[in-house]
Amino acid sequence: MKLIQAKNYEDMSEKAAAYIIKQVHSKSNSVLGLATGGTVIGTYNRLVEDYKQSNTSYSNVHTFNLDEYVAMPRSDQNSYHTYMDKQLFRHINLPEDQSFLPDGMANDLQEECQRYERLIKDSGGIDLQLLGIGQNGHIGFNEPGASFDSVTHIVNLTESTRKANARYFESIDKVPTQAITMGIATIMKSKKILLLVSGESKAEAISRLINEPIHNNNPSSVLKNHPDVTIIADEDALSLIKREQKEVLSL
Ligand code: F6R
Repeated sequence: MKLIQAKNYEDMSEKAAAYIIKQVHSKSNSVLGLATGGTVIGTYNRLVEDYKQSNTSYSNVHTFNLDEYVAMPRSDQNSYHTYMDKQLFRHINLPEDQSFLPDGMANDLQEECQRYERLIKDSGGIDLQLLGIGQNGHIGFNEPGASFDSVTHIVNLTESTRKANARYFESIDKVPTQAITMGIATIMKSKKILLLVSGESKAEAISRLINEPIHNNNPSSVLKNHPDVTIIADEDALSLIKREQKEVLSL
């Protein structure tokens, strides 16, 4: 794993966007795995700025999002379809039929999971997967206890994840209880992984990822088995990581 230290959220977002832009420039038909949430918004803002200023083209790019809520219409203001459209898709030249998210409204959710997994495979696989991390170490919606062999599947969201996401909803009972998520095995098949971590609320999660053994009670720990992971974390997120450890990690 390579650890890049950023000063703050803005600096992390700048560095993350530069990493993604480099990927798209070096392979114009890149397949990007995308995340939602607060951490990645600054990165998307910068990708949009870059598109306006430098015209980086997404016309041959395909994107696959990590997850989507179950039983939430895609037009709902809290759906990840809406989030992606607002934060990124409508601002760049990514053709509509080249961006994919799981369909949480599908009649047959099991079949939808298999279809999504197939689509990723048929695209040639994800070149670069962007990830955030949950306070409990989740990646995608793979919560503690998730199997490392899991592919795209339906999950019951934990109370801690629903609480963390309640900030976007009127109240916690409006937060969905299920989602479709890429599985850990799906994520691990990506050629490269870029994990972004910002703020004190994530300090414990990143410290556990780095210091604890690989175990499925901490899903993010699996990333230590991947050959090409870059973590970009800001100072607040790294407040529990010792200086010597940062040096060891910056390979
Ligand atoms: C989102 C996702 C989640 C988030 C994580 C961090 O698509 O898969 O794993 O990356 O919950 O969320 P934020 O960035 O809001 O703290």
